[in-house]
Amino acid sequence: MVRIPFIAANWKMNKTVDQAMNFTEHFLPEVKDAADVDIVICAPYTLLVLLGAQFKDTNVDLGAQNMYWEEKGAYTGEIAPDMLTDIGCTYVILGHSERRTLFHESDEEVNCKVQVALQHGLKPIVCVGEDLTEREEGKTSEKVSRQVRAAFKDIDAKEVLNCVVAYEPIWAIGTGKSASPQDANAVIQSIRQNLADIYEHEIAGQIRILYGGSVKPENIASLMAFEDIDGALVGGASLDWEKFAALVENK
Ligand code: 13P
Repeated sequence: MVRIPFIAANWKMNKTVDQAMNFTEHFLPEVKDAADVDIVICAPYTLLVLLGAQFKDTNVDLGAQNMYWEEKGAYTGEIAPDMLTDIGCTYVILGHSERRTLFHESDEEVNCKVQVALQHGLKPIVCVGEDLTEREEGKTSEKVSRQVRAAFKDIDAKEVLNCVVAYEPIWAIGTGKSASPQDANAVIQSIRQNLADIYEHEIAGQIRILYGGSVKPENIASLMAFEDIDGALVGGASLDWEKFAALVENK
């Protein structure tokens, strides 16, 4: 089963309109001929309308970084799934460790969001990963397995094929300290095994699983050289169009 490489930017809480326009003006022409790769930019809400229009008829897809599970109504400050599809979002990051840690999102809430995103035709990029203490205590597989099982509870095999998983060890995010390709691949293999246990091998073999955490143009190739690492979810290095284009190129 061939899994198409997937390179996604998570801009987090960065970029004004001018900064985003400057990025796309250079980035879109630079990657327009990139073949056999899915390129996604997950931008802050304030940029999504603009980028949705710009990415139309290009080879770059748009993603959001979060959403709420209700359809509409009195939820001040929240964004509904239909609002995202309406402006051209294809993907939505769910359960990023920053959401889980800083905004107290639980496994149950992540699962609820995954279900609702799929019902609305959005493709979730589901993030999982252990913190430093968990890693040092040898609890990585246990943690990641729990997060995977919880996130995909009540999601059937047909729906899970529309999901992407991102393994992001918390200690590697924004620290410049990436997991070694061997370690990242081993955890990603265990995630694929979790998916095979829930669904079956044939399904698990089709799901893209990304690595995230201090991915740069210099280390992407060594990560992607490993069989189970299907791409990257990139924070810091995705903010610079030249670096993000180099990441797509070097994958
Ligand atoms: P960095 O690439 O800045 O380490 O961030 C990774 C991340 O959290 C992507 O979602």
